[in-house]
Amino acid sequence: MSTHSRTADHPIDKQFLERWSPRAYSGEEIPEATLRSLFEAARWAPSSSNAQPWRFIYARRNTPHWDQFLGFLNEFNQSWAKNASALVIVLSKTTSLPPGGTTEVPWPTHSFDTGAAWGFLALQAWSSGWPAHGMAGILKDKIRAELGLPENYAVEAGIAIGKLGDKSVLPAALQERESPSSRKLLAEIASEGKFIP
Ligand SMILES: Cc1cc2nc3c(=O)[nH]c(=O)nc-3n(C[C@H](O)[C@H](O)[C@H](O)COP(=O)(O)O)c2cc1C
Repeated sequence: MSTHSRTADHPIDKQFLERWSPRAYSGEEIPEATLRSLFEAARWAPSSSNAQPWRFIYARRNTPHWDQFLGFLNEFNQSWAKNASALVIVLSKTTSLPPGGTTEVPWPTHSFDTGAAWGFLALQAWSSGWPAHGMAGILKDKIRAELGLPENYAVEAGIAIGKLGDKSVLPAALQERESPSSRKLLAEIASEGKFIP
């Protein structure tokens, strides 16, 4: 199966090939209802003991929080995400109540579970026509301080969301990279019964 430059070696739903992470956004405003659909998709991700440790804090373009959230990104990410329509900070709760327990304990799967929620959001974002782009390049200490985060919440990543724009809004070097990327071979990531380095 092939979609734009990508080919899957085994049959999969086409949504997995179609989604990619653009940087050229159009800068139009995103309806709040659309954004809520994306978080709704994330909401239905699986998590250990159904603890649902993911949290999303967002700012929409042309609203009072926008400049602050743009300032949460490193310089490189600001250079393209300034044209996005929404910026999201993804948090995870690092503690939870164990089944039947009354006291919260450290929750080892907080990041793993939150990654699943981001994956659901990204697929819904693509199919809604508002592609999402994950960002590790964020200023975690600044985010923690300015959003007043409690200690048992980890700052995981940022997400830019927007409508596809023209490549010309990007610096030349980024224009060249503005296309879907490929992947490792399946044999490099999945093996039966033993670890293959
Ligand atoms: C957790 C995470 C962090 C990322 N951080 C950045 C980033 O800081 N800046 C950036 O331009 N892209 C970032 N990306 C985008 C990845 O480079 C991209 O997802 C990867 O190359 C695969 O391409 P695709 O999403 O288009 O399939 C990040 C993606 C994820 C999932």
